[in-house]
Amino acid sequence: SNRLVIDTDPGIDDALTLALAVVSPEVDLQLVTTVAGNSPLEVTTRNALALLDLFGRPDIPVAAGANRALVRIAVHNLPLPHGLNGLGGVEIPDACRTAQPEHAVERLAALLRDAEPRSVTIAAIGPLTNVALLVALYPELTDRIDRLVVMGGSHGPGNITPVAEFNTWTDPEAAQRVLADSGLDITLVGLEVTRRATIDEADLATLRRTSARGAQLADMVNGYSDHGPDGWRMHDVLALAAVIDPTLIQTLDARIEVDTRLGPGRGQTLTFFDALGPYATDGGGVADDRPRVQVAVDLDVPRFRKLVMDRVPQAILA
Ligand code: BDR
Ligand code: CA
Repeated sequence: SNRLVIDTDPGIDDALTLALAVVSPEVDLQLVTTVAGNSPLEVTTRNALALLDLFGRPDIPVAAGANRALVRIAVHNLPLPHGLNGLGGVEIPDACRTAQPEHAVERLAALLRDAEPRSVTIAAIGPLTNVALLVALYPELTDRIDRLVVMGGSHGPGNITPVAEFNTWTDPEAAQRVLADSGLDITLVGLEVTRRATIDEADLATLRRTSARGAQLADMVNGYSDHGPDGWRMHDVLALAAVIDPTLIQTLDARIEVDTRLGPGRGQTLTFFDALGPYATDGGGVADDRPRVQVAVDLDVPRFRKLVMDRVPQAILA
């Protein structure tokens, strides 16, 4: 099965993504790298380790990566959707181990160095800082990456500003480096689809019935403020679900420009869909010959929910 690395900032939807990964036979989770995002790096790393223990996989290595954005530290004045501890205020025990001694990017480079061409999938479900550093430091290893699936961006409204999604807003320079310039085979799973990738009260009741740990997971989701009328938005889970079953989403080819200017547009992903173009270019920075990425434009909500609810409870059965 597919060798998988998850780059993450847990985070409640990140937590359910890890749960889905460890029980899905289509993927073989070999490394978890952490990044600052929903919480500071120490917190996201601590959570990644604790969650893998909770899901019975203390054998999967965790390596801590970037503790801030490449160029500018993003600051906002909003309540944190994942709570102060990143897990909706739910306290799960610390792991019995610590993170790997190497930086996440070094650990990921070592994994890629030993890999066959196009044999590793990376699911990036936090700000893209680590991935940008990887492509900058180790361009010769990027051919080992089969596919990069990113939760980030939006071709419509944002969720942290009117135009920007949280992950791309947190490190726009990294997002530009990866999404516009890297040339990797990228699937971009943004807010237009992840906003609809929800689980609801009935699903939480199912989780609660599973086990005491299932109840903890349900409490986390309950402490997550990112919800709408259909339920809690499992943004990151959809990115991994699209690796497990690519038919869950529909995509269109587009090139991406990330607005890296300071000001109200910062962090916006501009999506130049091939099917809607050609678009005017400014003759300067914005060229039409950029690599294309596959942008998710639709999803099968019932099948997504079924996949999540058939599988996530298995991660916390014991
Ligand atoms: C993204 O931001 C984070 O809060 C979530 O974990 C997800 O990765 C959604 O915009
Ligand atoms: Ca995340």
